[in-house]
Amino acid sequence: MAASPEAKFTEETVLWVKHHTPKLITFAISRPESYRFAAGQFSRLGFHEGEGYIWRAYSVVSAEYADTLEYFAVLIQDGPMSARFARMKAGDTILLDKAATGFLLPERFADGRELVMLCTGSGIAPFLSILEQPEIWQRFDRLVLAHSVSHSDELIFNGRIAALREHPLVGEHAAKLTFIPVLTRETSGARLYKRLPELLKNGSLAEAAGFPFTQENTRFMLCGNPEMVKDTFQALLGMGFAMHRNRIPGQILMENGF
Ligand SMILES: Cc1cc2nc3c(=O)[nH]c(=O)nc-3n(C[C@H](O)[C@H](O)[C@H](O)COP(=O)(O)OP(=O)(O)OC[C@H]3O[C@@H](n4cnc5c(N)ncnc54)[C@H](O)[C@@H]3O)c2cc1C
Ligand SMILES: NC(=O)c1ccc[n+]([C@@H]2O[C@H](COP(=O)([O-])OP(=O)(O)OC[C@H]3O[C@@H](n4cnc5c(N)ncnc54)[C@H](OP(=O)(O)O)[C@@H]3O)[C@@H](O)[C@H]2O)c1
Repeated sequence: MAASPEAKFTEETVLWVKHHTPKLITFAISRPESYRFAAGQFSRLGFHEGEGYIWRAYSVVSAEYADTLEYFAVLIQDGPMSARFARMKAGDTILLDKAATGFLLPERFADGRELVMLCTGSGIAPFLSILEQPEIWQRFDRLVLAHSVSHSDELIFNGRIAALREHPLVGEHAAKLTFIPVLTRETSGARLYKRLPELLKNGSLAEAAGFPFTQENTRFMLCGNPEMVKDTFQALLGMGFAMHRNRIPGQILMENGF
C-alpha cells in the first residue's frame, strides 16, 4: 500500500534502531526534503495495520538542520505502537505525517535570561532537539536540563549531553548548561533523588542549578508524564510563576508527553 501523492503522510525508511534497555529505544528514519519542524515539536509516526493505520505522536530528537529524523521511545507493556517498535528494524517502512506540530517552543518567550527545562522519561526528547539549536545557547545566559527517571539505567543521554561541550555550534557557550539527572527510585547515580515538584518546592533544584529562580529572569519548559506536568505547574504557580500565553506573557510553557 504505497502513499498516494495527495496523502497527508510520506513513507519513510527506518535507518537504524538502538535498544538501550528492554524498554528504551532510539531510532532514526529518512527525512523528506520537504519535512519542516521547529525544535520542540513532535511528529506523528505510523504503520499500516490491517486495512488501516496506527498513529502516535513522537517528539523529534534531531536538530532542525539534521538530514535524518531521530526519535526516542519508551516501550509500554501491551502498548500497540510499542509492540510495533519492539520488532522494528533497519529497512522497515514507517509512515510520517507531513505536518509537525507543538507549541513547546523556547522562542515563544520574548524575554528571560535563564531557561529551565524540566522533564520525565521520554519528555527529554524535545529538549535534546532544542539544545542542538545554536540560537538557544546565544539567547539565554543559563540553561538547565533536569531529567527525572525512576532508575539509573534510564539515564541514557548523559553521554550525549556531555558531548554538547564539543558541538561546533555550541562552542564557547558550553558552560551555560547545567544538567541535573534525577532518580526517584534509587539513591545513587544522579544529582537529586526526589520528584521534580518537591525539588522545586524545597529549593534543591535551584541550588543544583546554581542560581535563584525569579519571575524576572527565569523561564520554565515542562514535558513528560502528565501528572508530573500538572504537579510541577502547581508547584511553580505556588512560587509565583504563571503560564505563558502569547497575549499574556508568563514564565511557564508545558506539554504533556503522553
Ligand atoms: C505530544 C506527544 C508527544 C509524545 N512524544 C513521545 C516521545 O517522544 N517518545 C515516546 O516514547 N512517547 C511519546 N509520546 C507517547 C506516544 O505517542 C505513545 O503514546 C507511546 O509510544 C505508547 O504508545 P502505545 O501504542 O504503545 O501505547 P498507548 O496505548 O498509546 O499508551 C498506553 C499508556 O502508556 C502510558 N504511556 C504512553 N506513552 C508513554 C511514555 N512516553 N512514557 C511513559 N508512559 C507512557 C500512558 O499511561 C498510556 O495511557 C508522545 C505523546 C504525545 C501526546
Ligand atoms: N517507573 C517504573 O518503575 C514503572 C514501573 C511499572 C510500570 N511502569 C510503566 O512503564 C511505563 C513507562 O514508565 P516510565 O518510568 O518511563 O515513565 P513514568 O512512569 O512517567 O516515570 C518517569 C519519571 O516521572 C516521575 N513521575 C511520575 N509521576 C510524577 C509526578 N506526578 N510528579 C513528578 N514526577 C513524576 C517518575 O517518578 P516515580 O519513579 O516516583 O514514579 C519517574 O521519575 C509507564 O506506562 C509506567 O506506568 C513504570
